[in-house]
Amino acid sequence: MSENGSAAVEHGKRVREMFGKIAGRYDVLNHLLSGNVDKRWRKKVANKLKTKLVGKDPLILDVACGTGDLSLTLFENTGARVIATDFCRPMLSIAADKVPGTINLIEGDALRLPFRDATFDAVTIAFGLRNLASVEGGLAELLRILKPSGWLVVLEFSRPTNFILRPLFGLYFKRILPLMGGMISGSLSAYTYLPNSVSRFPDQEQLALLMKDSGFQQVSFDNLTGGIAALHMGSRSS
Ligand SMILES: C[S@@+](CC[C@H](N)C(=O)[O-])C[C@H]1O[C@@H](n2cnc3c(N)ncnc32)[C@H](O)[C@@H]1O
Repeated sequence: MSENGSAAVEHGKRVREMFGKIAGRYDVLNHLLSGNVDKRWRKKVANKLKTKLVGKDPLILDVACGTGDLSLTLFENTGARVIATDFCRPMLSIAADKVPGTINLIEGDALRLPFRDATFDAVTIAFGLRNLASVEGGLAELLRILKPSGWLVVLEFSRPTNFILRPLFGLYFKRILPLMGGMISGSLSAYTYLPNSVSRFPDQEQLALLMKDSGFQQVSFDNLTGGIAALHMGSRSS
């Protein structure tokens, strides 16, 4: 295995173990630390995607589904069939208790998804892309499994656009959230990793560019809650 390949495997292992440790507290903390805004963001993904789903009986793959909140929101709000995948078993076990049996949960790595080319009408990834060893590698894999004219939606933390909100959110996200998250989850490192991984991740414009460079078309994004998060969309060419 190449040096890059083994670094990617190591990175994946660390991320999987980290989510495995916090899985039991993940949902509570998500809703608490975001003041429940995360639910609105996921609903927005479903509503945006619904307008893009054409044809009979569309099939969505929710990648890095974690405990299944977005998978469930997609299922309840789009009318599409949903498959959900993640590489962390403890996160998937929590999802299994929450989602209906009609949502198939499949263990899989976002960088090597166990699906044939051009399988899905839409693919979503919420707060997952940032965690991959290679964002470009992830985007290439998501494009591969999309049908022609299919849509990708990425929901991810981004950069607040408002000059008043930016420093206030920075203070909360980098100082207060790690302490609260660390105390409640018992893993300070996981909630220190969160702001660190967001600051390494491309901002709104850079991610849009990366999606275009990866072969996505009609790329656009919406800032959510003043740019604290962003919703990017792009399609596979017909
Ligand atoms: C922050 S959670 C997001 C979960 C869910 N999408 C949500 O909206 O709450 C990130 C998830 O990405 C998963 N993940 C990270 N890297 C992955 C990879 N290479 N393949 C599959 N899942 C991955 C983790 O296991 C974790 O469940």
